[in-house]
Amino acid sequence: MASKVFIVTGASRGLGLAVAEKLLQTSHKVFLVARTEKDLQAVKTKHPSSVDFLTADLSDVKVTPSIISSTLKSFGRIDGIVVNHGVLTPITKIFESSVEEWKHAYDINFFSALALIKEAIPELRKSQGRVVFISSGAAFGAYAGWGSYGTSKAALTHLCTHLAVEEPSITTVAISPGKMDTEMQREIRDNGKAGMAPEVHASFVEEHTSGRLVNPKDSGNVIAKLVIGATSDLNGKHFRWNTAELANFQGQ
Ligand SMILES: NC(=O)c1ccc[n+]([C@@H]2O[C@H](COP(=O)([O-])OP(=O)(O)OC[C@H]3O[C@@H](n4cnc5c(N)ncnc54)[C@H](OP(=O)(O)O)[C@@H]3O)[C@@H](O)[C@H]2O)c1
Repeated sequence: MASKVFIVTGASRGLGLAVAEKLLQTSHKVFLVARTEKDLQAVKTKHPSSVDFLTADLSDVKVTPSIISSTLKSFGRIDGIVVNHGVLTPITKIFESSVEEWKHAYDINFFSALALIKEAIPELRKSQGRVVFISSGAAFGAYAGWGSYGTSKAALTHLCTHLAVEEPSITTVAISPGKMDTEMQREIRDNGKAGMAPEVHASFVEEHTSGRLVNPKDSGNVIAKLVIGATSDLNGKHFRWNTAELANFQGQ
């Protein structure tokens, strides 16, 4: 298969890093975005000719044009984007939260994605490319204290549907990657207790202790295969990473 070019956001650790590594293993070029330069540089050091990166806080939409222009300068085209970055914080009940905190969470989880996709549409039309939005079970069900996260993920998941009806030449899917053993789950265990229902918080701790969290490499593998080759019948839809409907994209 000819080498393709992908942007992966939130690629410094966790799921984003797993997706980037899978794409690199399959000989593609990857443009990474996150805030932590040393982690992005470490990936580039391992794959100097296949990786480039921009260190940026995606909550500032002014960085978006430079993500697209830098990817084009480094690799000449864009075949797909994995919109993976995201934050769960603040874990605070509505009554105790501030609108400003919610706006900041939406800047990171939603408006950054909107800005990036809008800017990338001309290139994705040319390549008949693909977009994978990373959704969450929290987009569909409510946990006390997770309002800004769950509602912003619901908005992101619905953005997938809108992009699909407006841009049929681009294939767009939203994927829930499972409860994964990453920093985000550590944050829930270490700092979520005050804002969450005690039994729900305890269930998250228990899933970790009993080793039931998903390895991000497993859901990352499916997401990498989707951004490479999601088929048009999937356009605009949301899936859990391990659903039988994605059987063609699962396995090594
Ligand atoms: N972990 C789970 O159980 C779970 C479940 C369902 C959905 N998800 C979703 O999966 C995705 C990946 O999560 P993860 O578990 O891998 O979490 P993670 O380990 O916390 O990674 C989050 C990534 O997003 C980046 N990021 C955060 N804020 C950013 C900002 N303002 N600008 C640029 N980059 C930013 C982080 O990099 P820097 O800190 O270097 O910027 C990091 O690379 C997220 O969208 C999350 O909502 C996770």
